[in-house]
Amino acid sequence: MNVSGKKIGFGLTGSFCTLEKALVQMEKLAFWGADIYPILSYMVDTTDTRFGTAQYFKTRILAVTGKECIKTIVDAEPIGPKRMLDLLAILPCTGNTLAKIANGITDTPVTMACKAQLRNDRPVLLGIATNDGLGANAKNIGLLQNTKNIYFVPFRQDAPEKKHNSIICRMELFVPAVEAALEGKQLQPVIMS
Ligand SMILES: Cc1cc2nc3c(=O)[nH]c(=O)nc-3n(C[C@H](O)[C@H](O)[C@H](O)COP(=O)(O)O)c2cc1C
Repeated sequence: MNVSGKKIGFGLTGSFCTLEKALVQMEKLAFWGADIYPILSYMVDTTDTRFGTAQYFKTRILAVTGKECIKTIVDAEPIGPKRMLDLLAILPCTGNTLAKIANGITDTPVTMACKAQLRNDRPVLLGIATNDGLGANAKNIGLLQNTKNIYFVPFRQDAPEKKHNSIICRMELFVPAVEAALEGKQLQPVIMS
């Protein structure tokens, strides 16, 4: 795997039902030798849901990465000037965070990390998980598809009969998508069935 020794920011945002699956991918990155810098949105840092407590996820992340999470905009800001990361992955990426990135809004640690990374002309990989991917956020996905240094974990509709606009990334393609993005390439096909 080409991720060995790479410094990879791992942003987690509030798609709570997919956090556990994202942690499995974080474990894979760690297994292959990546140096992982975890970054939490305020929502993930502070919210307990039926999918687990905030403390549970932070404890798991510390065990996988050996690092405390970046939890403030102030702590995420040095990613830019210190050129800390080879790649920033956001997995899961909510519709909320996706929309902010597409529209230049920087008001969480994860969106700050994204802004800092793009400032350095370095790759950002988005693993979408949102019920409005083909609805309110379709235009933002389209905009980001055409944005320099933005890559996607290939995605699909997850429940077309029940949730017409819902999009979820193929978690099992996360590490290959990281490898591709590190080389400046989009893993294809990006839209899957
Ligand atoms: C239990 C629960 C599950 C959620 N799942 C999702 C989801 O899968 N995708 C999504 O885009 N938003 C989801 N949300 C809504 C986001 O958490 C909400 O938009 C939040 O403002 C996102 O903030 P963030 O992007 O800064 O993490 C969920 C909220 C809750 C309480």
